[in-house]
Amino acid sequence: MIIRPSRLRHNLNIRTLTKENDISLNDLVYPLFVIDGKNIKNPIESMPNIYQFSIDKLLFEIDELIDLNIKNILLFGIPNKKDDLGSDSFNKNGIVQKTIIEIKKRFPELYIMTDVCFCEYTSHGHCGILKNDHIDNDLTLKYLQKQALSQVQAGSDLIAPSSMTDGMVKSIRNILDKNNYINIPIMSYSAKYASSFYSPFRDAVKSAPKFGDRKMYQMDPSNSREAIKEVLIDIEEGADIVMVKPALSYLDVICKIKDQINIPLSSFNVSGEYSMIKAAAMNGWINEDLVRDELLLSLKRAGSDIIISYFTKDFAKKKKYND
Ligand code: PBG
Ligand code: ZN
Repeated sequence: MIIRPSRLRHNLNIRTLTKENDISLNDLVYPLFVIDGKNIKNPIESMPNIYQFSIDKLLFEIDELIDLNIKNILLFGIPNKKDDLGSDSFNKNGIVQKTIIEIKKRFPELYIMTDVCFCEYTSHGHCGILKNDHIDNDLTLKYLQKQALSQVQAGSDLIAPSSMTDGMVKSIRNILDKNNYINIPIMSYSAKYASSFYSPFRDAVKSAPKFGDRKMYQMDPSNSREAIKEVLIDIEEGADIVMVKPALSYLDVICKIKDQINIPLSSFNVSGEYSMIKAAAMNGWINEDLVRDELLLSLKRAGSDIIISYFTKDFAKKKKYND
């Protein structure tokens, strides 16, 4: 007798019934870049179809996103003035704070996540406060607290610290609790690698470090056991969701971590991963829609509960056609 696994592939109904994983807009988070100024919609050259928006233009974009049934966004701010301390990031009139307030006025149902880091706000482009050209870890914690608190005071729904500062989850949880924001979750960029896949993002927010690199605080791509260590520490410190970043070259890491934890796992399908696919598609070398959906599905299959992706809008548009 021939054993026939292909019986369950015979038609669409049985294939759909036996599907192990699926992907929907409920799983996706769309990153957005907001810049100081008016009437700005700057294309980011290395990220086709992704823009820097001023607040007024961003509100039009969000209108469109809501029409497409996109439910979650992750905000990145690009301030006018950068300085040593990244002061704009904890100013109540800072770019992200102003943006959250304006979005919440018009679109209260949209779930706003905010990235907590310093590289977008500091003149030196590093992810923390420097002392003698090195990150001062413990001093950075104090400023991370200020930044996180001012974001939730403006109305952020979820805090996503991405600086890879030791103790960041604990410090942020403490300050939020102390100020009665006991119900604001923390999604920690727990296993964030020193990756070359971030370069289009650094064009987008002009955050490339002015000297050195991020290897002193971000993880070495050769390590995966260390990722488990980072994740377990963050969970102990009170993280509600942990993240692996980048995603596509780190499916093994996602999978290993998933086996060890019982809280939700997110993965960040980063700028370089997006741009590679866009570039190949623009050359007519791949079918963009099919490759995109296969990629997102693979992140789900590996163990991601939540996927942060620049493809969210494209996925939503396509979905709309098919429904
Ligand atoms: C800030 C931050 C980065 C990304 C998300 N948050 C960049 C970095 O560490 O240089 C990367 C996102 C992407 O490439 O899409 N620390
Ligand atoms: Zn950073």
